[in-house]
Amino acid sequence: MKKILFMASECVPFIKTGGLADVVGSLPKYFNQDEYDVRVLLPKYLCIKEMFRNQMEYRTHFFMDFCYRNQYVGILELKYQGILYYFIDNEFYFGGAWPYSNMYEDIEKFAFFSRAGLSALSVIGWRPDIIHCHDWQTGLVPVYLNDSFQGNLFYRGIKTIFTIHNLKFQGVWDIDTIKRITGLSDYYFTSDKLEAYGNGNLLKGGLVYADWITTVSKTYAEEIKTGFYGEGMDGLLRARSKQLTGIVNGIDYESYNPMTDKDIPYPYNANHFLEGKEANKKNLQKELGLKVDKNVFMIGIVSRLTDQKGFDLVDYMIQQICSEDVQLVVLGTGEKKYENLFVQYAQKYPSRVSANIFYSEALSHRIYAACDAFLMPSLFEPCGLSQLMSLRYGTLPIVRETGGLRDTVQPYNEYDGTGTGYSFANYNAHEMMNIINYAKDTYYKNRKAWNVMVESAMKKDFSWNASARAYEDLYNSLV
Ligand code: ADP
Ligand code: GLC
Repeated sequence: MKKILFMASECVPFIKTGGLADVVGSLPKYFNQDEYDVRVLLPKYLCIKEMFRNQMEYRTHFFMDFCYRNQYVGILELKYQGILYYFIDNEFYFGGAWPYSNMYEDIEKFAFFSRAGLSALSVIGWRPDIIHCHDWQTGLVPVYLNDSFQGNLFYRGIKTIFTIHNLKFQGVWDIDTIKRITGLSDYYFTSDKLEAYGNGNLLKGGLVYADWITTVSKTYAEEIKTGFYGEGMDGLLRARSKQLTGIVNGIDYESYNPMTDKDIPYPYNANHFLEGKEANKKNLQKELGLKVDKNVFMIGIVSRLTDQKGFDLVDYMIQQICSEDVQLVVLGTGEKKYENLFVQYAQKYPSRVSANIFYSEALSHRIYAACDAFLMPSLFEPCGLSQLMSLRYGTLPIVRETGGLRDTVQPYNEYDGTGTGYSFANYNAHEMMNIINYAKDTYYKNRKAWNVMVESAMKKDFSWNASARAYEDLYNSLV
């Protein structure tokens, strides 16, 4: 039995700000339970829903020297849907109303988490063969493991994998501060280790010291070796390209199932979707105060509202997008300029634009179910889960051909009728607009072709089955 520990800063159903949480919360369930004992280690944020915090059981605690203080480290555990979760407790670090705050505080918070998490393993006596780290918040785990933990036999030989979900976030601060916080010596702050462009960089620690690097789609694994997508790490990633693989994300096919989804009023499946999708559309139109019309072309957006997601293109074209024969439904939070953009257009066209500037799991499901198309013209997209959810609900994605979007959406071919959505190549607003119009044209003028695509979109397999096997192969090659 191989023992694998996931360490991450978010995980459904406990705490989620983006797709990272979906991945960490679903992938562990899809490993072969007879061969892999996969457990997950998370911070015990005070902002985790009380219902879950109340179910956690205190296991033990210890004190750890960190950042010039002797600090409390509590260990709690909770078994949920067959997976054992450990939570690191420290209210000084994890007491905020949101998992993240400013970068300076976050660096100390996640350095603490990385060190405390590692230390906790020998306290509870569970030695993983592999620690699978996710994003910059856990970048120090392979570094610490290589450093002081080498003095302890318990830790020697543990392998590490570092998965890049988003290269843009790196955990960067000045070297002196990072040295002071982490307790790492000068040795680590050279350009072949944690130093990058004059600063200390936690993500880079993970990229340098992990035994293997993965990212969440094949295309993104290639893209990040180039200057445009590399966020300053492309040279290092080229150097490590022999230990870098892209494994596409899946989604939880139990939570995202239009046949059993408790959040949508009218269930449907790939063989019978016409009535179901129409009924869900009318229901959503009523709920959001839009004109009720089962025939109008409805475009959905569920997203963090940041430039990563291509909203500058949407901003440029919004007047054209919101034409009379379109309804636009937006659910998202993020940068004020994009929030205001959608709110403004919802006020301008109340019967056909709806801006929902908040977070709601349930509404997101109703949007995936009700819309005809889903717009995701990302500037970059490591994988993207929203388009996978859309495909699963028969809502055809309109995407830019980058990262995981390129790997998961098959563009419509009007000559042979194949495809599961629409895509455009260049980060250009007019190209995006042409593709939106092309999709709208198919919808209004060739509904038969549209419905064939809906069916094939719903029949594609984006569950974790294939990708979990790819991770198992990787684990086997390391231990
Ligand atoms: P990213 O991780 O870059 O934000 P992904 O497409 O991988 O993008 O994952 C986004 C996840 O967050 C999806 O599950 C999506 O449904 C969800 N999501 C984003 N914004 C909201 C929101 N306002 N309300 C509910 N779910 C949201
Ligand atoms: C990141 C990426 C997104 C990816 C998610 C899960 O948030 O932005 O593309 O799907 O991580 O891997």
